[in-house]
Amino acid sequence: MSDRYCVFGHPIGHSRSPRIHALFAEQCGQAMTYEAIEAPREDFAGAWHAFVAAGGLGANVTVPFKEEAYRVADVLSQRARRAGAVNTLVHGRDGRTYADTTDGVGLVRDLEAHGVTLDDARVLVLGAGGAVRGVLDPLLAAGPRSLHIANRTAEKAVSLAADFQQQGYVTGGGYDALEGPFEVVINGTSASLGGELPPLPDTLLAADGVAYDMMYAADPTVFLQWASARGARTIDGLGMLVEQAAESFFLWRHVRPDTGPVRDTLRHEL
Ligand code: ATR
Repeated sequence: MSDRYCVFGHPIGHSRSPRIHALFAEQCGQAMTYEAIEAPREDFAGAWHAFVAAGGLGANVTVPFKEEAYRVADVLSQRARRAGAVNTLVHGRDGRTYADTTDGVGLVRDLEAHGVTLDDARVLVLGAGGAVRGVLDPLLAAGPRSLHIANRTAEKAVSLAADFQQQGYVTGGGYDALEGPFEVVINGTSASLGGELPPLPDTLLAADGVAYDMMYAADPTVFLQWASARGARTIDGLGMLVEQAAESFFLWRHVRPDTGPVRDTLRHEL
């Protein structure tokens, strides 16, 4: 019988994770299955324990269960503890549930794969919700000169910046006082979902600036369209999706897939 993995979400129908992990498994010659499971909103813990009882070895966790999964964990990685949410669970040989978050590593690896230098860069992150909290630790570890968080609700950005202050130079505020230029601007808001754009000044991006959207779609998001019209290089979050999956795969299988071809395949399938 092959080893079992899954992704939990609600809804889960549109998840690309089963496709990505099937491609990884094929590429790396791993005998495993990876399915999508719609867990009941009110009982994530029950769904995880039932999966393990049926032989499940690990899982990805997506909306709305990332905080629930954090609570289910017996052992949390340091970056997961700081993120307050997890996207990867591992059923340990000792019977305990180990948890980690790979989104931030995925973001940083994808930026690296695109040749974007974070070291010594002035970095701006838009948004102060769970998605942004989840990536701050690895972003700061990449050594930016400064990191500013801007959010519609300014207080949330200020308080998030304070939480991560000890690791580097981090500030937060609203959009009204926002002033560029930044070498790297990362959109971590969910505004793109509704086709909306935070109010951004034209001076936001440095001349050779990079705009990164943690979201992806078949067409460029409004944020990437905005940045592209101002001469920035634009990158969407498809690569981040593949890189975070690769890190989860590594945590389960101790094998690192080659992400480039998988990203290309997914791009074709968008
Ligand atoms: P997620 O898990 O995606 O981070 P979240 O925790 O609900 O979801 O956070 C959503 C983020 O997108 C927040 O930063 C939110 O700003 P507020 O904190 O002010 O609500 C931001 N956001 C959502 N829609 C937006 C819009 N139309 N314009 C600007 N920011 C928006």
